[in-house]
Amino acid sequence: MPRQLLKYVLGRRDFGAEVSVAGWVRTRRDSKSGFSFLELNDGSTLASLQVIADGGLPNYRDEVLRLTTGAAIAVTGELVESPGSGQPVELRARSVTVHGYADPEAYPIQKKQITYERLREIAHLRPRTNTFGAVARVRHALAYATHRFFHERDFLYLHAPIITASDAEGAGQMFRVTTFDPAAPPRDEAGGVDWGEDFFGRPAFLTVSGQLEAETYACALDRVYTFGPTFRAENSNTRRHLAEFWMIEPEMAFADLADDADLAEDYVRCLARYVLDHCGDDLAFFDRRVQPGLVAMLEGVAESAFQRITYTEAIDILEKAETPFEFPVSWGSELQSEHERHLTEVVFGRPVIVTDFPFEIKAFYMRRNDDGRTVAAMDVLVPGIGEIVGGSQREERLDVLMDNARRKGLDLDLYWWYADLRRFGTVPHAGFGLGFERLVQFCTGMQNIRDVIPYPRTPRNAEF
Ligand code: 4AD
Ligand code: MG
Repeated sequence: MPRQLLKYVLGRRDFGAEVSVAGWVRTRRDSKSGFSFLELNDGSTLASLQVIADGGLPNYRDEVLRLTTGAAIAVTGELVESPGSGQPVELRARSVTVHGYADPEAYPIQKKQITYERLREIAHLRPRTNTFGAVARVRHALAYATHRFFHERDFLYLHAPIITASDAEGAGQMFRVTTFDPAAPPRDEAGGVDWGEDFFGRPAFLTVSGQLEAETYACALDRVYTFGPTFRAENSNTRRHLAEFWMIEPEMAFADLADDADLAEDYVRCLARYVLDHCGDDLAFFDRRVQPGLVAMLEGVAESAFQRITYTEAIDILEKAETPFEFPVSWGSELQSEHERHLTEVVFGRPVIVTDFPFEIKAFYMRRNDDGRTVAAMDVLVPGIGEIVGGSQREERLDVLMDNARRKGLDLDLYWWYADLRRFGTVPHAGFGLGFERLVQFCTGMQNIRDVIPYPRTPRNAEF
């Protein structure tokens, strides 16, 4: 009898049929009349299946009565209509096979409430909880929907390198990759570390963004996107920063900032629609237990247009705001998360796309606007998170790009291949990066980014 996942079994109504399932016991309750109820979960769906294990089973006394929370079993039995009010179906066991017990004295995931902080310390077991199972399923759905979204719009999936020599953001937040013995690296004549002797014959790092490589392919294949891990050695201990996170970076040739903003809006709205349509049970759970109003909020995102304002307008609004901010704002300053959230949550009550930021606070590759002091950049801000997308039209004019790099103290010779795009068949082009974990936070209501990635990497934390 082939084993079936609970998400299918729970939808069946062919009572009397024989069914095989397997999973982990959530609870065992024994009735006075000599049989037991086992609540079984296999992670394929939020709901558990109630299994009735009769006292007449050959291993009832010796094995079934030893089952506790966390034990793994396989069950074959008859699908029956449930007399109770919970699930419409339950399983009357004909055989129960025990794969592994879980010592109740030692197994940390018991039925009682357990904090997210504690669960981070046992991240290898947290997917067995309702919350982390649901996060994993929504995360998967968003990844799948991402590939579908871009594929349907003729974007090619590009595998950008993970090890790189270039700092795409020019922010100096890169992790070094080396095979040197830290205690005794080869030295050059001046006594410095001789990186020329290292594995790659030059300094190498983990990528902060696949954008520059994506640009090279967009400037040949029209539309591409990356979806891969990126790394930032920034010492940010916030609920929305990770040292290792996944980013989706589409890049389009023959496109400007407005096209870029349209694509970002379309993408975020399509993904909200996808999870509403495909993860109903899990979203209802998050709405009930994590963020009341989540489903209605996502419906609003899927159904209505985003607000669009310029950075200059945003500053104007923030300067007039009555809310006391921790960080002061004035033209030229970075938008802090409190400012972003004020705009999207308080002022507009929906996602906001902010465009045309000051040159001084943005990366060297962004296209300079005619006013000379702003660039064709955009950020998408969403309620509860703030910035979820950062993007721009790229500087396609070689002389301006070189001037940008010079003004930002960057050596464009290192990026000779990037400059070549402007030498040979240059074209207006644009793209953005969306932080995948922030998207998962947005769609689940989970407060801390450490709880939407299986094994979070943050300053002073790389357990597992
Ligand atoms: O705004 P960022 O730094 O933009 C870039 O990296 C561009 N190269 C993207 C592009 O135009 N192709 O990062 C993009 C997004 C942010 O909006 C945020 O959602 C996410 O990546 N992000 C982080 N997510 C988690 N932890 C961090 N430390 C993050 N830094 C950025
Ligand atoms: Mg940004």
